[in-house]
Amino acid sequence: MSAVSGAERPSAVAYIAESEVTMISKKIVDRINLQINREMYSAYLYMAMSAKMTNEGYTGIANWLLVQYHEEMFHAMKLFGYLQDQGASPKLDKIDAPELKDSTVKELFQHVLEHEQWVTASIRELLELAIAEKDYATENLVRWYVNEQVEEEKHANELLQTLDLLGDGKQGVFMLNIELGKRSATIPLDFTKLGGA
Ligand code: FEO
Repeated sequence: MSAVSGAERPSAVAYIAESEVTMISKKIVDRINLQINREMYSAYLYMAMSAKMTNEGYTGIANWLLVQYHEEMFHAMKLFGYLQDQGASPKLDKIDAPELKDSTVKELFQHVLEHEQWVTASIRELLELAIAEKDYATENLVRWYVNEQVEEEKHANELLQTLDLLGDGKQGVFMLNIELGKRSATIPLDFTKLGGA
């Protein structure tokens, strides 16, 4: 067998991609790939927020944000596994660098809430596409994310409410910091069981 030169590789890869037999439409595959990117961006955003909080000495808040990072990775990998179970190859795009302009802890949690509202809108869009395409398997999967977003927005709202009750001065933030240090991940951290593998 002759060695494959570097110049021949792209067409070989394209051939594999074109011969892919999927059980879901290309429109759905593309939209799920976009959602994977958005979930990965969410993970990246919470990672950046966590680093910022550690840097400011709020290790409890940093802990809460790192658990949130794991949740987002779970969301991305669940979609990643689903695509593969449906015979499609996930296409990974570049992840934008998160921009953190929040100067207070309250602003940071407002950012969390706004971000989750944006993800909710994105999930709704994906659900509407699955319904329009009569893709019931994808619809079932996306409904799990619809429920998950209710929880995500609820948690962000509760944190803002708690901060309002405690006061968002140094003392209030310090108490919140202690509370958020108790959070630990409840989702499975072994993503090999999410399909695809
Ligand atoms: Fe994956 Fe926080 O939404």
